[in-house]
Amino acid sequence: MHIVHVAAEMAPIAKAGGLGDAVTGLTKELQKHHQVSVILPKYSLISLSPTQLTLDMEFSCEKKRLSYNVRVFRAEVEGVFVYLVETSPLIDHFYEKKIYLGTQRDSERFIYFCKTVAEYLIRKNQVIDVLHLHDWHTSLLVPLVKEVYLSLKVLVRSVVLTVHNLAYIGRCFLRELEEIHYPLNHIESFACRGIFFKKYSLLRAGLFADAIVAVSPGYREEMLTKRYACGFLRLLEKRRDKVHGILNGIDKDLWDPQKDPHVPFPFSPKQSLAEVFRAKNKDKEALQKKLGLPLSHEPLVICVARLVPQKSPKLMKEGLLLAKEASCQGILLGTSPLKKEQAVFEKLADTYKGDSHLRFLPTFDEPLSRLLYAAADFFLMPSSFEPCGLSQMIAMRYGTVPIVHHVGGLKDTVFDPRYENASHKVNGFSLHKLSTTELKKTLSFAIASWRKDRCALLVSNGIQHDYSWKVPAEKYVQIYQKVLSSKK
Ligand code: GLC
Repeated sequence: MHIVHVAAEMAPIAKAGGLGDAVTGLTKELQKHHQVSVILPKYSLISLSPTQLTLDMEFSCEKKRLSYNVRVFRAEVEGVFVYLVETSPLIDHFYEKKIYLGTQRDSERFIYFCKTVAEYLIRKNQVIDVLHLHDWHTSLLVPLVKEVYLSLKVLVRSVVLTVHNLAYIGRCFLRELEEIHYPLNHIESFACRGIFFKKYSLLRAGLFADAIVAVSPGYREEMLTKRYACGFLRLLEKRRDKVHGILNGIDKDLWDPQKDPHVPFPFSPKQSLAEVFRAKNKDKEALQKKLGLPLSHEPLVICVARLVPQKSPKLMKEGLLLAKEASCQGILLGTSPLKKEQAVFEKLADTYKGDSHLRFLPTFDEPLSRLLYAAADFFLMPSSFEPCGLSQMIAMRYGTVPIVHHVGGLKDTVFDPRYENASHKVNGFSLHKLSTTELKKTLSFAIASWRKDRCALLVSNGIQHDYSWKVPAEKYVQIYQKVLSSKK
């Protein structure tokens, strides 16, 4: 099959979060059996040298009153062909050193990107079996292919949309669509009907793809409930049989405690549990020395996350304070794009600077996060909702027991012995309510279990499990095939 992915992110060249990891992981795996490429904006932060880039095409495109130049470069990332779309400097929307600006300008930027991709694919004139889009940023391509550019309708045999997070609806304005000459008689699919006003969502237009894939079966179910449907319930219900759920994988080479250069005492699932614990103890000591914490063999609870409301930063803080009360150590690593939240954690960092149990580190530091995963005993992730979540899987692969809120992808990956009877499945703890009381109860239970036998069974199940992209990629291929055969 000829499969073309279009996305806002791809790790490691353009990554802001889990979306970037998922795009790389999935395309790398699909590429083993299919012809795969990825189309991305050529952000100025992408640091590929000119020798790594080949000019693939140059053309000009029309904007409302003027025309702009487009250059598409080809590069190879993780063995996958990537096409980077650059628009002329005059109206270059991607020159800022950021993937997302976090302002309304983002919708304008990605509307342009989608239009330019459509124009590029027309000129490329190749038959594409599956055009695979991700989240709101690229959703506009659904109506562009299906309704606007008839020549694309002929070239693109099917369109699939993966929803990584329904909550980002990609709000847009009609004038932004007018700017790219979008025919306004095709606007119905964008319209969310509110009680007082009508708003337009780019993601909504994407939900008319031939198949919609949520990033976990748990999130698929939730998307079909009023609470999590973000206003799209009626539409999703109508298209229920087109909505699927496939759990993401993680890149096993990228996240490997045996090969990770930031893990001073490596370990692997092939070793005995005693050997794994010995290595993890030494990693913990290395971490304690690095952060100036007293050397201690008490349990270590960590949080590694972007401090956005979805991740419940307040509960993370409470969890770490509870850990301290129970004589454990606690470390939080992560930044917030929200100034106020960032300030809260900078203040905490200051308050607990020389503390004997706690560290708040409001920075982004991937090497340190890797040492944390290896050194810790518990990984706390109390997300209010979580479409899939990658860090709980990384934690388990690094022998660390996750403590999560029982939602979305966390529900599909973490099994608590208090609720799960199958002893080969249990691998963590889950909060069935998002409250301080429930957190306290679960945390004390987890710490007590650790003091009994270091949660040996949970660690062992977690570290042995196969989190790779192999099975998820096979499931995607099944969906591609199903969609293609229904078109015949
Ligand atoms: C989004 C979701 C997260 C998911 C990731 C990759 O960031 O919030 O749950 O793991 O996308 O699909």
